[in-house]
Amino acid sequence: MPSKDHVARRRTFAIISHPDAGKTTLTEKLLLFGGAIQLAGEVRAKANRRQTRSDWMGIERERGISVVTSVMTFEYGDCVYNLLDTPGHEDFSEDTYRTLTAVDSAIMVIDAAKGIEARTRKLFEVCRLRDIPILTFINKMDRESRDPFDLLDEIEKTLALDTVALTWPIGRGRGFAGTYDLRANLVRLLEEDSEPIKVAGPEDPKIAEISSDADALLAMEEIELAREAQKPFDVQAFLEGHLTPVFFGSALKKFGVQDLIDALAEFAPEPQPVAAATRQVDPREAKMSGFVFKIQANMDPHHRDRIAFMRVSSGKLTRGMKARLARTGKNIALNAPQFFFAQDRQLAEEAYAGDVVGIPNHGALRIGDTLTEGENLVFRGVPSFAPEILRRVKLGDAMKAKKLREALQQMAEEGVVQLFIPHDGSPAMVGVVGALQLDVLAERLQAEYGLPVSFETSRFEICRWISSDQPAELEKFIRAYPTAMANDLDGAPVFLAQSAFNLRYDQERWPAIEFTDIKDYQ
Ligand code: G4P
Repeated sequence: MPSKDHVARRRTFAIISHPDAGKTTLTEKLLLFGGAIQLAGEVRAKANRRQTRSDWMGIERERGISVVTSVMTFEYGDCVYNLLDTPGHEDFSEDTYRTLTAVDSAIMVIDAAKGIEARTRKLFEVCRLRDIPILTFINKMDRESRDPFDLLDEIEKTLALDTVALTWPIGRGRGFAGTYDLRANLVRLLEEDSEPIKVAGPEDPKIAEISSDADALLAMEEIELAREAQKPFDVQAFLEGHLTPVFFGSALKKFGVQDLIDALAEFAPEPQPVAAATRQVDPREAKMSGFVFKIQANMDPHHRDRIAFMRVSSGKLTRGMKARLARTGKNIALNAPQFFFAQDRQLAEEAYAGDVVGIPNHGALRIGDTLTEGENLVFRGVPSFAPEILRRVKLGDAMKAKKLREALQQMAEEGVVQLFIPHDGSPAMVGVVGALQLDVLAERLQAEYGLPVSFETSRFEICRWISSDQPAELEKFIRAYPTAMANDLDGAPVFLAQSAFNLRYDQERWPAIEFTDIKDYQ
């Protein structure tokens, strides 16, 4: 098969939502379509449930939260779907942001009773930075829910995103009977295995036969209204990230999920070109290239392995091929690239643009790394965010300082925390976005390296990467603040400030210095 078809068949996407909106349930149901799992319920990584692969870490089991990001691949119809999972807890949002750099579209799941919630909005903003096209699934229609017009209006107003409902709920809560497909004039009933019913339109008398319920008649009136009020669905506006098609359903009852999967196949984008420092890389280029957006260690507690998740950006990856690692210029052999399914992994004999492969390694690969089939390319855009919490790492046993340095370096390369080495020789500092990341760090240092650590507050609260187009000024600035300077993992200079007030003060005093809170990985 020519590689053109491979690209056109792929859909690489994520699900964004506020916790409890139904992301896990929807994931399970999507995977059922692909036959990726036999039993619904197996994806769950929640407390007291069957232990699953993504449930590998003690901290997840104890607290009933899903910490790790992983990928699940399944095939359905003509398409290969790569669903990139993201941690639900906001303390791991960095992981989520990085994962969103590796998708071409996203499904936004909204709880029909709650509408847009804080985390949905935040994640949506991240998608908007890259204009990722969004499909919206309004979930839990089988429960008491808000008026559909109200929900659409809220999306439009709070996210400044046009909406076009492609399905409409018939009834809500206990009266939820199914949906009406506005494009095809099909009524789909909630009953298992019922065939969709073709009607002439919402005014078709057949509807009264389908359901004489007052709910159904009200829904038909709403559909007429919606048809008059909303614009036609404009695929281009969707692809540009200005408009979202909206589907109603119930993930729990597997209802409306087929609409979503069909919509992903029909109009979600195939793998898109990816920006490298020097040029755009087209997915259909013959030579393989890709970037690492996630590192996961110890997925299997019996083997100390480290998996780098790489999104293939172009060409064809073949097992056994050599790839050039841009950061070092060295070649590494891709002897055991892997695909992930809900339950297991499999050797990836070949992979194409849009696919995500896991590359086992012993520390050679870092987040943000670019691998190519020879060309000197560097992909940009896997970001690092200035941490909101800075702590000094305190080690119980001073004899193990060297081991701690190595361990922290590893953890930073995996993206568990950010590491800052102060210029003045004082102990290393770690930075995190959410406090749970510190718990994960402490647990892993203990479990994997036998290092008992605690964390101390530091006098610094804020950190910013600094740069300047006047190198002499930058030098001068660095010399002026010897005790407030540190280097990050890549050796980039970071300024540490005691408060937002101090930071503003220094910014005003040094206009030639740029202070940034987002940095691309090198
Ligand atoms: P999350 O990953 O977004 O955090 O949400 P998750 O799928 O875990 O769903 C959160 C809760 O909402 C779960 O209930 C789940 O069963 C329920 N839920 C998800 N989709 C629907 C739906 O379409 N309709 C209804 N009525 N409920 C839905 P739970 O009580 O936390 O867990 P469980 O013990 O019921 O499984």
